[in-house]
Amino acid sequence: MSDNTNRTIQSFVRRSGRLSAGQKYGLNDLWSQYGIEPEAGQAIDLNAVFHKQQDIILEVGFGNGDSLLQMAINEPHHNFLGIEVYEAGVGRLINEAHKNNLTNLKIIKEDAVDILSNNISASSLAGFQLYFADPWHKKKHHKRRIVQNEFMDMISEKLIDGGFVHMATDWEHYAQQMMETLEKHTHFKNTLNAHTYSVRPERRPITKFERRGERLGHGVWDLIFTNEK
Ligand SMILES: C[S@@+](CC[C@H](N)C(=O)[O-])C[C@H]1O[C@@H](n2cnc3c(N)ncnc32)[C@H](O)[C@@H]1O
Repeated sequence: MSDNTNRTIQSFVRRSGRLSAGQKYGLNDLWSQYGIEPEAGQAIDLNAVFHKQQDIILEVGFGNGDSLLQMAINEPHHNFLGIEVYEAGVGRLINEAHKNNLTNLKIIKEDAVDILSNNISASSLAGFQLYFADPWHKKKHHKRRIVQNEFMDMISEKLIDGGFVHMATDWEHYAQQMMETLEKHTHFKNTLNAHTYSVRPERRPITKFERRGERLGHGVWDLIFTNEK
């Protein structure tokens, strides 16, 4: 067991429910093509798991997977690693990836904090994406937010020098916390001026939770930083 303090962040609640036939097919029949099951305490050889060796972008918490699917289709020159605990979303994404014959996408169905702590090598990722992470908006729950100093230290270590961090959220208070955490970190540099949020870049498709936020009248804040070690 690692003594990494990140293990204390419990950033998700497991959602359950009936799986559709397509989700089951993705989770069971197609798992060996798309799923990765890391071994305890062992770093995954990421270059060996993808069809082609090219830059790897990690997305944590892809939800139903629709935006990650679209990105993987749009960017065949990147490999995408998605980590999500929501089974229905994992099954759906794998099923859709298969329909689109994608070979640049792999999935881990575990807690991303554990996987990053124990199974991802330093300087192995070219980018890190976190879209509409659970906001834990009540003050007493802020400690469950995934974006915290220790977590971002770990992300910086796993990213290559010059790698990027792209986050988006529809909760202003969380956006401010993300900005503060990234700006005070010695390695992360805003791609825009200090304290400046980005507009959604064209490469980021609108996500399911983003649409939900829009219906509730929320704003959207994108943050794009580089990792300069
Ligand atoms: C609010 S949803 C957003 C989903 C998607 N990105 C979107 O914008 O539609 C956040 C997702 O992050 C996942 N999640 C939160 N913490 C996680 C963790 N530590 N490891 C893996 N998945 C996590 C949750 O299961 C949930 O599906």
